[in-house]
Formats: sequence, C-alpha cells, structure tokens
Amino acid sequence: MQLVAAELVESREILPGQWLQAFHAPALTVGSRAGQFVHIRPGDFSGLILRRPFSFNTVDRASGQITIHYRAVGRGTDWFTRLRPGDRVDMLGPLGQPFEVDPRSRHLLLIAGGLGIAGVRMLADDALRAGREVTLLFGAAGATEVYPSSLLPDEVEYVVATDDGSVGHKGYVTELVRDYEGWADQAFACGPAPMLAALARLAAGRGSRLGVATLGAKPKRGGRGGSSKTIEPGSPAARRRAFLQVSMEQNMGCAVGACLGCVVMDTHGTPQRVCREGPVFASDELDWESGW
Ligand code: FES
Repeated sequence: MQLVAAELVESREILPGQWLQAFHAPALTVGSRAGQFVHIRPGDFSGLILRRPFSFNTVDRASGQITIHYRAVGRGTDWFTRLRPGDRVDMLGPLGQPFEVDPRSRHLLLIAGGLGIAGVRMLADDALRAGREVTLLFGAAGATEVYPSSLLPDEVEYVVATDDGSVGHKGYVTELVRDYEGWADQAFACGPAPMLAALARLAAGRGSRLGVATLGAKPKRGGRGGSSKTIEPGSPAARRRAFLQVSMEQNMGCAVGACLGCVVMDTHGTPQRVCREGPVFASDELDWESGW
C-alpha cells in the first residue's frame, strides 16, 4: 500500500452522470491487480473529510496511468468531477483482495450491473493480455446507461441486457448467464447486491460441475497431479477454485479495516470486512441470506 500524489490527466463524462478520469500515478500501476481499489482524499479546501473508494478501472503500466469510473451522487463525487487536468489528489492503494484467475482458465465470463463494470473492467485487459477469451455480460436499466462498447477492447464479446429492452436482451443480465456458464471456466461479477445474490444462487451447489472444477487436477511439480493441500477459507486459493467470484460494493469509511463499517457475513457467521478481506470473495463463502 502506498500514498501517492496522483495528477489528473483527463476527465470526461462518458454517460449521463458517470465520469471516467485518468490519473498519472506510476507507483500504483506496479503490483496493482484487478478487483483492488484506491482510496482518494478530496482536496484541502473541499470541506470534505472522508476519502472515497474507487475500483481500479484500468491500469496502464506503460504510461503510468490508472483510470477510475464513478457516478456523481453527492458532494464528494461531485467535487471530483470539478477537477481539471494538472490537479493533484492524494491516493492510497492498492487496497483489498483481487480477483484470482486459475492458470488453467481460458474462458472468462465477466458480469457487470451498471457501474459494476468498473469493478471488472481491468480484468478484461489482464485476461486478453494473457491470451484468454473474455465475454462481458452487462446489464442496465435502459439505453442511456449502457457502457459504451468503444471503451472496451475489440476482442471482448460484449452482450447487453436492459430492463426496458431498449438495447439487447430485454430483462436482467442474470438471465443471460445460463447461455455462457457451460463455456466459462470462471465467472467474475460486480454490481448491485441483488444481482450478485441472484448469481450466487445460480452457482450454488453446482460449483463442482462448472468451469474451473471440471478442468482436471492441476499438474503437481515433479509429481502426478492433484493436491491434498487444505484450502483456507478466504484465501486466494479459495477464490481461485470458485466458479464465481464477486466484488462487493459496500459503503466504506476507513477502507483499511478499522471502522467495521463495511462488513458482510460469511457462511460461518463471521463478519468479513469488504475493504480488507474483500472486496472480492468466492460467492460460495458468503451468506447471501443474512442481509449483512
Ligand atoms: S471501511 Fe472501515 S473496516 Fe472497512
């Protein structure tokens, strides 16, 4: 984790009320992984105290730039929209646990609801760079909220669902998943909690018959395949072997594990801090009925 002064390079409204901003922050492009986030402090004269969390939307190590994508919903995010190129912000990161891709996975299914695209966008770049295939299922209320395909790499298969049917499939994005679950080795989702809960229910109890679980035993160094090693709950290995990983969007205060304002419950009834143990979890490790 580092604290850096990040300089705004570009800022634009890509959808009504949704902003994409690029910052020059080379130190944060090294070692940052898809699913992690930064915590940014509004300026000294903003009158705002709390930092705001933003997912790494993209990370470009060559240019030293990261982008964030957010909706302006209050004084804090409104303040960020007023930044101009050359302005500097105080950025803390990378924070949180990343998505884990099994080395054997070739086909990645990304599922995003609305602004949840910001949580999985970087994973598409990383996967393509590693020679994997990516399908992105994206859900929104209507055409005016659909993420522009021009902001995605050409190699991504992009499938849209809208509640009102104005673009793509009419209905929820979760209704598209069954068409792709046989193809996918792993699935990664970010979006509203009801969407994630619906996806978790779809995957529940079927993990052993889906995706990465069907790829066969991992080759063992110097041995004959398989591993008897116990997988610790909440560990990178637990996420890696899950068919579905979810990136949770909870309100955050401190973002460093101190305030307990962001907890969700796991299946053992243990509170899990989204900012520390998350934001990425294996879907089968969370208790979706607890209402947090
Ligand atoms: S935001 Fe404070 S513990 Fe997570």
